[in-house]
Amino acid sequence: MTCRIAVFGTGYLGATHAACMAELGHEVLGVDIDEAKLASLQAGQVPFYEPGLQKLLQKNLKSGRLRFTNSYQEAADFAQAHFLAVGTPQREGEFGADLTYVDAVIEKLAPLLRQAAIIYGKSTVPVGTAARLGQRVRKIAPAGNAIEVAWNPEFLREGHAIQDTLHPDRLVLGVDPERRGPAEVLAREIYAELLAEEIPFLVTDLATAELVKTAANSFLATKISFINAIAEVCEAAGADVTELADAIGYDDRIGRKFLNAGIGFGGGCLPKDIRAFMARAGELGADQALTFLREVDNINMRRRTRMVELAREACGSLLGARVAVLGAAFKPESDDVRDSPALNVAGQIQLQGAAVNVYDPKAMQNSQALFPTLNYSDSALKACVGADVVLVLTEWSEFKELDPVELNGIVREKRIIDGRNCLDPAKWRNAGWLYRGLGRSS
Ligand code: UGA
Repeated sequence: MTCRIAVFGTGYLGATHAACMAELGHEVLGVDIDEAKLASLQAGQVPFYEPGLQKLLQKNLKSGRLRFTNSYQEAADFAQAHFLAVGTPQREGEFGADLTYVDAVIEKLAPLLRQAAIIYGKSTVPVGTAARLGQRVRKIAPAGNAIEVAWNPEFLREGHAIQDTLHPDRLVLGVDPERRGPAEVLAREIYAELLAEEIPFLVTDLATAELVKTAANSFLATKISFINAIAEVCEAAGADVTELADAIGYDDRIGRKFLNAGIGFGGGCLPKDIRAFMARAGELGADQALTFLREVDNINMRRRTRMVELAREACGSLLGARVAVLGAAFKPESDDVRDSPALNVAGQIQLQGAAVNVYDPKAMQNSQALFPTLNYSDSALKACVGADVVLVLTEWSEFKELDPVELNGIVREKRIIDGRNCLDPAKWRNAGWLYRGLGRSS
């Protein structure tokens, strides 16, 4: 059955969700307050890099199933299902999540809802938010009790957003057990094609659904920090963390995924989500339960400092050194530089007196906007000209395929530090390079 859907927020999450829901055959309206973003999307241009999304957007615009608007009135009159996909960044100077955007959508949308509708939250929020929003909506919407708020957390990874939306590992829906309405029935219609693939569909209460998301991201962050802590020990003991990860990863209770040691996690989700989780647990009086996440955060931030130290060790001193930085995005197949470990390391090295040349296949524009004082080169080879050390900080395949022999005559010193353990050490060493990987003996 075709459903009428509005998606509020057209960033990485919202734009992907809107295009994917149209791809499933639904009538979709993407809603945002950012005129420039809307104009770009309506013209078939995705304002960020996500593999395959532009094609999907254009296809569904053409079919007429997908449109964009800034009109909340239009969305309220049109949709049976309203998805909230706006950002919940970290509050300035605090650990807690900033719910300004979520609240703003509710305050603007609810007074326009005259007929029964369901609001599905997708944004990552502190537990308790969905229940609070439900009460608020029913108070201010003309349709009152006919409005249901449900929570349908999103687990998509940037760079794999379409696959993760159309073929997720699982679907989770939180509903209020006290006032169970049609949210589950409509969700089953919206996701009928996914359910036909036998993707697990878990219906929980609101708080559990909210916590599933935060717990999942906290587990992933913990897994990465675990292997990075082991990397520190490997460095001290002269062992190799990548071989260790392979060996423990064969145990399927552990699994090899998310055990890549390096400069750690960043992006718009993991770092702020673990902090918001700690803050919320504190409010609930359960702060002790999550004190380990503070250590997860510390281990992660220490990897960035360690990378700077290794660069300094390689050059003797960073003052006056020329450092090539390959990679600026927080991970490959993305142009996102929010809390990017790569850019953070590049910035620290520059502040310590080195001349830093950055190259990234997709994130140049975003990096320049965030860190205008770094030097940017438009190819990996150009970034490496005259370098005293080359740092690989994001594991783009372009960097894995670099030919050390080709770089030999370009750099000043043949030294490479692999911040993502993504290169083949033998290839570089055989070409006469000094290779260092994080958590691997020199
Ligand atoms: C993460 C989660 O993986 C998604 O499931 C979730 O939906 C999303 O946050 C969100 O909350 O919206 P994402 O931020 O796109 O997705 O990126 P990840 O693939 O999780 O990578 C996060 C960071 O961890 C990156 O900086 C990556 O380089 C780093 N990482 C990842 C490692 O350092 N080592 C690893 O083994 C894996």
